[in-house]
Amino acid sequence: MTRRTPALDPVRAARWIRSRSPVVPTVGIVLGSGFGPVAEAIPNATLLSYADIPGFAVGSVVGHAGRLILGEWQGTPVAVLAGRAHFYEGFDWPQVTFPIRVLAELGVKDLLLTNAAGGIRKGFQPGDFMALSDHINFMGSNPLRGPVAKGRERFVDMTGVYDSGLRARMLQAGKRLGIKIPEGVYLAVSGPSFETPAEIRAFRTLGADAVGMSTVPEAIVARHCGMRVAGLSCITNVAAGLAGPSQKVSHLEVLDVAREVAPRATRLVGEWVRG
Ligand code: HPA
Repeated sequence: MTRRTPALDPVRAARWIRSRSPVVPTVGIVLGSGFGPVAEAIPNATLLSYADIPGFAVGSVVGHAGRLILGEWQGTPVAVLAGRAHFYEGFDWPQVTFPIRVLAELGVKDLLLTNAAGGIRKGFQPGDFMALSDHINFMGSNPLRGPVAKGRERFVDMTGVYDSGLRARMLQAGKRLGIKIPEGVYLAVSGPSFETPAEIRAFRTLGADAVGMSTVPEAIVARHCGMRVAGLSCITNVAAGLAGPSQKVSHLEVLDVAREVAPRATRLVGEWVRG
């Protein structure tokens, strides 16, 4: 069963946010596990709790704060979503992707989606980064399912879903900081169970380099809204079965690595914003 969707109106939510901050963001950033401290790097920021923003769902996953942060960072007006509601928590697609529609309404043109992911590609180690070049939607559903708003496209093109210009900026940011950032394909599952070793072998055959439980629905909806999208994964663990038969995948391990990586992740995202 999915939770009931309350009336979701991005225009109303954006009006509410505008009445509390003069910042008109052009860049949006969604923080996944490992990227949380980005929120603290923004000086003189306005913090708005998801619980107070009309229509925002409040997720409950450890490591996800649940705050919208507005401010100027590296000379750019930014809106940062610290924490996201996930499909596996029982939220439906309109709830999961509502904040993305609100960012578009606020004026965001470029959106960076970050996440923690399991590494499938040979050689990926915990603590590595990956810039998303493409994705595979294995969630079993699509966030654009249902009635389409007047004036919006029914069938959205997904070639080049991750903008090559924004991705090049990420690779350059990495170069300046001495951080290697390979490009790769992110495969999204609905979760919340981690994958079986057989699933991971299958996903590798399908062309996936990393696996996670978010990002793809947000990328699809962002493209529906006409935003340019970039994706950045922090590899927090080797995907199930790839480190031997006795290896297990745990959320605690994910959070441990995410915490370790956080300072580097924050510098990288800041450098990307600076451009
Ligand atoms: N699988 C799915 N999601 C994840 C993983 C994983 O191994 N690591 C972090 N998020």
